[in-house]
Amino acid sequence: MSNILFATSEVFPLIKTGGLADVAASLPRALIKLKHNVRIVLPGYASVMKAAAGDVKKVTVFDVDGEPVTLWKTLLPGTRVLVWLVDAPAFSERDGNPYCGPDGFDWPDNAQRFLLFAKVARLIALNQAGLDWPVDVVHCNDWQTGMVPALLAQDNPRPATVFTIHNLAYRGLFSWDTFVSLGLPHELWHMDRLEFYGQFSFMKGGLVYADRVTTVSPTYAEEIQTPDAGNGLDGLLRHRQAVLSGILNGIDADEWNPGTDKHIAQTYNRRTLTNKEKNKVALQERSGLEVSEKPLLGFIGRLVDQKGVDLILSNLPQLLSEGCQCVILGSGMKDYEERLAQLAQEFSEQLSVTIGYSETLAHQIEAGADIFLMPSAYEPCGLNQLYSLRYGTLPIVHAVGGLRDSVIDFAEPTQTDATGFMFYQYTAHGLYNAIQRALAAFQDKKIWRMLQNNGMSKDLSWQRSAEEYGRLYGELLE
Ligand code: ADP
Ligand code: GLC
Repeated sequence: MSNILFATSEVFPLIKTGGLADVAASLPRALIKLKHNVRIVLPGYASVMKAAAGDVKKVTVFDVDGEPVTLWKTLLPGTRVLVWLVDAPAFSERDGNPYCGPDGFDWPDNAQRFLLFAKVARLIALNQAGLDWPVDVVHCNDWQTGMVPALLAQDNPRPATVFTIHNLAYRGLFSWDTFVSLGLPHELWHMDRLEFYGQFSFMKGGLVYADRVTTVSPTYAEEIQTPDAGNGLDGLLRHRQAVLSGILNGIDADEWNPGTDKHIAQTYNRRTLTNKEKNKVALQERSGLEVSEKPLLGFIGRLVDQKGVDLILSNLPQLLSEGCQCVILGSGMKDYEERLAQLAQEFSEQLSVTIGYSETLAHQIEAGADIFLMPSAYEPCGLNQLYSLRYGTLPIVHAVGGLRDSVIDFAEPTQTDATGFMFYQYTAHGLYNAIQRALAAFQDKKIWRMLQNNGMSKDLSWQRSAEEYGRLYGELLE
């Protein structure tokens, strides 16, 4: 039984901006089922302290470089997973998004904030925070925790470290002046360490110093070793190839289960698939769309370049004119938000755009749509295509990263194992062709049913992936 400290900057349902929160909520639980002792350490953002308020216990108070830090413990709501909350003014005295202010710009002191978080994680990892819990492996996630392996590399003895890349595009880059103000050891400013083309990168702390580096799909693990998807770090990742691997994310099969989903109009499963239609009607009604049997396309996600929003925007007028309907939920870049809202005004009977964040609507789209669009330019793993498979909502995906690893293209009319549609050229036309193939299949109820059935029968749970992480920890502890 090993003790695993899982360091993350978000975890559902306490705080979520993207898929990392979903992973941080379900991977620890799957590991616990495999008899690992996993505990989470999370910044105590104001909203988290509020969300956990009724159920927190003060554990200890100490100073880090003169900054007062209080550690609280709580249970991840609805689970038995223990979470330590790092309560310091930089986290707990600020409302809103964990990474950026209301103006959409990063908090100016992010380097200070997440270095402080890393220092606290290091103390816990070394069993020096007064918690009496010896740690075997520290599992870090994305740039916000990248400094944990870098700091621990200076300690001996120390626990083993794993660093998981959820998105290499966010490298945690800061200036030389910031580097100096943080008082980091001078030797870290080196191209083989944290320095990155005249700046320095928290992400590199994880990539250079962790004992093992993982990412969230096997294909993305290959892609990031090439200049196209390497974000300038491909050379380093090729250098670390021997310790780099890709493990596909699973999904929380309780949270995303059409058979028990509390957010949707009518639950259903493979045998009661006709009930899915009631969710389509409910979605059309709540979205102000004409109630009809027209194909209904769904999209949920951050409205940023990564997600292929430009390809969707280029195709929408044509698709809506041809009689498709579409429901979109997301927020992000103002330009995308405005262009989508504008189109929704023009095509109010066929297109509904909700700018914002809604767990409930996300579930209702997964249940109510016929087709789910995920034309991401790149996608480390992607969770919504997995939810879609589970909900019998056929995904149309660009053949990259985790999308490529989780969807089987219906390429041949005789093919019996397909679960969705894939396109290979990242162009509006490429997406259009895939949608046309999907619409053709949609006309044939028998084929559609087979494809839905294939997706819904897939085992998308965390178990297999958690076993892979378990093996990795085991290798490190040998
Ligand atoms: P990423 O982490 O790159 O944003 P993922 O597909 O891994 O992409 O995970 C995104 C998660 O966030 C999914 O659970 C998705 O349902 C959710 N999500 C994204 N945008 C919204 C939104 N506007 N409302 C509700 N859920 C959202
Ligand atoms: C990132 C990626 C996404 C992945 C998620 C969880 O945000 O963009 O593809 O599914 O992390 O690993």
